[in-house]
Amino acid sequence: MSVVDEIKERLDIVEVISQYVSLKKSGRNYKGLCPFHNEKTPSFVVFPENQSWHCFGACSTGGDIFSFMMKRENLDFSEALALLAARAGVELHERSAASSADEQRLERLRQIVADTALYCHHLLVNAHEAAIARDYLTQRGFTRQTWEDWQLGYSLDSWDALRDRLTGKGYTLAEVEEAGLIIRREDGSGYYDRFRGRLMIPIRDVQGRVIGFGARMLREEPGRSQPKYINSPQTPLFDKGSVVYGLDMAKKAIREANLAVLVEGYMDVLMSHQVGVANVVAGMGTALTEAQLRQIKRYSSNLTLALDPDAAGDQATLRGLEAARQILEREWQPALGPDGLVRQESRLKAQLRIATLPDGLDPDELAYADVERWRRVIAEAQPIVDYYLARVSREEDLGSARGKANAVERMAPLIREIGNAVERNHYIQRLARLIQADERLVTDQIMRGGRGALRSAPAPSGSDTAPPGAAAADARAVAAEGRAASGRPSGASAREAHLLGCLLSRPHLFAMLDAQLIEMGVPPCGPEDFDDSENRAIVQTLQARLPAVGGMDPTELVIAIPEMLMARCRHLIEQTQNGPPVTDERLLKDLGDLVLRLRKDRLYQQVGRLRYLIAELEESGGRDQVRFYQELLTSYSAQIRQLQKLLNARTITGALAKAGSVQG
Ligand code: UTP
Ligand code: MN
Repeated sequence: MSVVDEIKERLDIVEVISQYVSLKKSGRNYKGLCPFHNEKTPSFVVFPENQSWHCFGACSTGGDIFSFMMKRENLDFSEALALLAARAGVELHERSAASSADEQRLERLRQIVADTALYCHHLLVNAHEAAIARDYLTQRGFTRQTWEDWQLGYSLDSWDALRDRLTGKGYTLAEVEEAGLIIRREDGSGYYDRFRGRLMIPIRDVQGRVIGFGARMLREEPGRSQPKYINSPQTPLFDKGSVVYGLDMAKKAIREANLAVLVEGYMDVLMSHQVGVANVVAGMGTALTEAQLRQIKRYSSNLTLALDPDAAGDQATLRGLEAARQILEREWQPALGPDGLVRQESRLKAQLRIATLPDGLDPDELAYADVERWRRVIAEAQPIVDYYLARVSREEDLGSARGKANAVERMAPLIREIGNAVERNHYIQRLARLIQADERLVTDQIMRGGRGALRSAPAPSGSDTAPPGAAAADARAVAAEGRAASGRPSGASAREAHLLGCLLSRPHLFAMLDAQLIEMGVPPCGPEDFDDSENRAIVQTLQARLPAVGGMDPTELVIAIPEMLMARCRHLIEQTQNGPPVTDERLLKDLGDLVLRLRKDRLYQQVGRLRYLIAELEESGGRDQVRFYQELLTSYSAQIRQLQKLLNARTITGALAKAGSVQG
């Protein structure tokens, strides 16, 4: 039995979830208010029978005890594992010698940077030489409390002070170099301190552990131009591309405000927090990365970019939006189509807004001078499309033909991204009015780009002419099938395992599989396609790693998998190697089918559960809820039909292709 199974066996999901949600028994199951979204009537259900949970409300998601803890406590899989293992009294002894050596090395590096932060802070507060830094902070309006809260520091203006201190404490030069604090001389004659005579700003990970530094220049040296900030280089601890500065301090406020504000600089973060606007974080002076957005999204999916209005700010905005859009593109959610059928749409689910700062002011200056105005700037942020519409109308000469064409061209990519048809239409209308052009013409121009069209689900043919009762009848039919297949069909976990095993042994198929799914108008394959938390965690690693692995070498990929998941991976890969060899092409088709089937099965399971809940409710007379669940049932049924249709089409084209090749 795997550790995960052992933990599941020992812990009772009802008991664990009860600590976060007040659950009421309802028939065989338990119900409560969903902890992940605001609601007045309970749609969060725990199923003790198969130790799972599901929110039938806005979240429309569920899972097992691990996914619950991950979501609720913002943990990753290994953190949730550690937590639940401790609770269950299960020992995690699976680590190999190699990984614990790795962990030890990282721990040493952590000590080095933590030690350095402490030392520099001590210097800032006490050292005679640090007067320049103290004066600088005071002059910019930073309080003692802020120095303390953020553990600001000072690095002595010396080539070897830090080096000697750290080696004196028993760290080797190689270790200190690896931590990013010293630099090897080009002539090989030794090492010198990276940070000299600067204000030291410790950079922490989400858990608040120091991982690197940003170091600000305090005085211009005559005749030498030097960068304003020097940051830690890439180290095993510090990955510039994934750090969000201040997130450890801001995460609580972000969750409370359900909004993250992204500024450009360290100083902006420090000052905003000082004046009490604490849901503010910064990137690392580069374009926003996907890894950064993922981190922020754990606390809120509303993001406001506070940027100065000049050109540089706008470049950053665009780059940031590009990154954000890439992530959001993968955010699929069911939406009601004009035909009343539910389909998966990719849409800008998160609110991305742009706050424009008054000319020439940094957030730090504004926050210091006038905190109310800073709050207002944040509150008045505009959705990106509005923002760009305003910009374009300022910048283009809308009286001229060229200007009109430019305006449409510039707005098209943004408008096309809007998943919601009503919303999209709204902007098209506004744009058409702005340039005084025919609306149909503008629509035409905008939707002509192929990418947007590809992503919307194929319209189920003839469904818009179906009589009103048809959907309900269908729902009944589907529900009957759901009942027959009571609970999750037993083949599901074997299918999950097979799918994942194939992807692990041929990782290059992942992207091709996604392309195939997208072409069918359904979401790409992701963690949600798996019920098992371990499988989900593996898929997540796979997704995160694939771009980096480039060469798609499976061994490299497997190395990237966390140690605790290795055993499972090996097992999964082995299992797929039993059958006769198949070509990539063949396998790809099978995997596509598999994903569709898994999704269909999952929907059937939900239908079965819903039927059960409805029956229970009808007895206790919760009429509103019954209606709500009934509507859900209809939408699930429609989705099942769509999946079935896709599956049928695949068999038909497959058969035709075969017939064709026989003839040819
Ligand atoms: P800013 O110049 O806006 O920094 O650069 P700031 O934090 O507002 O600093 P002050 O107000 O001038 O003191 C934004 C961010 O870009 C990165 C840093 O992360 C900085 O916070 N940056 C900037 C560098 O890494 N190196 C530089 O030389 C300049
Ligand atoms: Mn600044």
